[in-house]
Amino acid sequence: MSETIDSLLHEDRRFPPSAEFTATSIAKPELYERARKDRLGFWADQARDLLHWHTPFTETLDWNNPPFARWFADGRLNVAYNCLDRHVLAGNGERVAIHWEGEPGDTRTITYAQLTEDVKKAANALETLGIRHGDRVAIYLPMIPEAVVAMLACARIGAVHSVVFGGFSAESLRSRISDASARLVITSDGGWRKGKVFPLKSAVDAAIELSSDGTESTIEHVLVVKRGGNDVEWVDGRDIWWHDVVDSASAEHEAQPFEAENPLFILYTSGTTGKPKGILHTSGGYLTQSAFTHKNVFDLHPETDVFWCTADVGWVTGHSYVVYGPLANGATQLMYEGTPDTPHPGRWWELIEKYGVTILYTAPTAIRSFMKTGREYPQKFDLGSLRVLGSVGEPINPEAWIWYREIIGGNTTPVVDTWWQTETGAIMVSALPGITSTKPGSAQVPLPGISVDVLDETGHKVGNGNGGLLVVTEPWPSMLRGIWGDPERFIETYWEKFDFEGSPNRRMYLAGDGARLDSDGELWVLGRVDDVMNVSGHRLSTMEIESALVSHPIVAEAAVVGATDDTTGQAVVAFVILRAKQAEAQTAEEAEAILKAQVSEQIGAIARPRRIYIVTELPKTRSGKIMRRLLRDVAEGREIGDTTTLADTQVMQVITDKLK
Ligand code: WTA
Repeated sequence: MSETIDSLLHEDRRFPPSAEFTATSIAKPELYERARKDRLGFWADQARDLLHWHTPFTETLDWNNPPFARWFADGRLNVAYNCLDRHVLAGNGERVAIHWEGEPGDTRTITYAQLTEDVKKAANALETLGIRHGDRVAIYLPMIPEAVVAMLACARIGAVHSVVFGGFSAESLRSRISDASARLVITSDGGWRKGKVFPLKSAVDAAIELSSDGTESTIEHVLVVKRGGNDVEWVDGRDIWWHDVVDSASAEHEAQPFEAENPLFILYTSGTTGKPKGILHTSGGYLTQSAFTHKNVFDLHPETDVFWCTADVGWVTGHSYVVYGPLANGATQLMYEGTPDTPHPGRWWELIEKYGVTILYTAPTAIRSFMKTGREYPQKFDLGSLRVLGSVGEPINPEAWIWYREIIGGNTTPVVDTWWQTETGAIMVSALPGITSTKPGSAQVPLPGISVDVLDETGHKVGNGNGGLLVVTEPWPSMLRGIWGDPERFIETYWEKFDFEGSPNRRMYLAGDGARLDSDGELWVLGRVDDVMNVSGHRLSTMEIESALVSHPIVAEAAVVGATDDTTGQAVVAFVILRAKQAEAQTAEEAEAILKAQVSEQIGAIARPRRIYIVTELPKTRSGKIMRRLLRDVAEGREIGDTTTLADTQVMQVITDKLK
């Protein structure tokens, strides 16, 4: 790793913005200056300029009880009103909010006026079902407009949504519902993916029935959108069709203001233990930074741009850059239900041409897989409307960055690589396209008002040319406010490592990523330094997959590593020791198939290992810790590294002999 990074750091290609781009750029260099002089004043300006406050705030940040921050705390606002009503009141009701395209090719065009009406109806329907301020609502939907409507309807009435990605299993959904004690699930019969309907409602049924400790589910109702047309089981009294209650609901609904710190959503993400963390975000600060970054990082001109963020609403990118940022800014966007290669490998490029997309925001994994299928597909379509390209979710290698700029961006569009996390809520480190001279592979500089640094293990700044741990040194508006129901884990995970000299307001946020500063002081994010993997830009926990494996009766022990993968960044590779009796009962191939299915069932298809090696030993230190580094060497087909700290130095020989 360090060798390749050293050669990357000699990257000397620079792409300054064109004079035309800079002339019309939304972001001006003064932003940096203003934020440097008065960081809190800068954020207060943004909150006032970008949002409508029912009651203006007088205090910007309360950091008296770190790490529990309160931003704009005495202000009151309604997040849905900010994303909807005010645009209609400003005369933009006829502007398209969402151009939606289903995978089979069906389309819907939804204006701000229409979306506002849909959300008002849905808010009334939720209230009729007894959902009130503070209640938790789980959302398990495909990429259909109702997902956006459901999220905003919750926000409108002050309920807290917890969106669970549709690719997660019934068991994952169950644990998320139970952790947040959700009262309602909003789902659909099914959705379209790769030319077929995949079921969702059946997983909800299973999630409500499944209960590991015999307790009853907290779910009272299941609200079901009709999308797939597939058959569903029905529990009378509990299950309700969306169209039965939402379509007939009143379109009058006045948005009540809530405190700026009112919880907006919980989003579960993998951590270093088996149990996902419910990351909590609140309203005013989150919306301020989502709107600010969406506008400035993508140079949004809402009257003319067509923005497309390809993320699913089940991930944080879909929350901040499909729902809250774009809608708060009154943007027009494209939302697409399906996969990039259905029905043909040029589907995305066809959509860009069809809708005249001007800003595209996607993940390096997608770019690398398009590189593999070949430039002839994008080249069949007119991509001339594109003027800004964004990347998120994992490090983008310079080769993919250049391909993105040349083949998709016609060698003229700026590429902005944006670093952030579920926990940070919005973009933290990125180029600004009209200002920064971009550098392939580097996430570059913190945004105005954001302070990050790279520290060594003892908390000292590493300085330019060196690597260490990425930290955020000052609180920021869209920062997580906690882990749902677990304040201790919140402190331990993020705030304890760099809590200097007991001085509480010097606490720094530990991101869990390794990073280097190049000789210009620009940032290169290297990837996770903990037991979290990043597969296709999705976070997966080593421990969570290990516990899914060992919960199967044939498994005695399991170790999981993230192995480098050309397309997906990392891939899940597992090493499993079977129980003695089972080892005789089936072949390694059979065991591998059974255990791949086990992981899909316990967590979801996204966590399914690429390979499961059945072994008889695992490399352990004398204190019993599994040496994943050595397993990574095996998984990546490398020479095995230093084995001297192993309790049994022969063990790697045994493993590699067996796998030959
Ligand atoms: C990684 C996604 C390098 C990083 C928004 C982080 C990145 C994790 C980048 C968060 C980037 C995200 N360059 N790595 N531009 N963006 N990451 O919570 O490891 O799904 O910690 O949020 O993705 O993933 P999450």
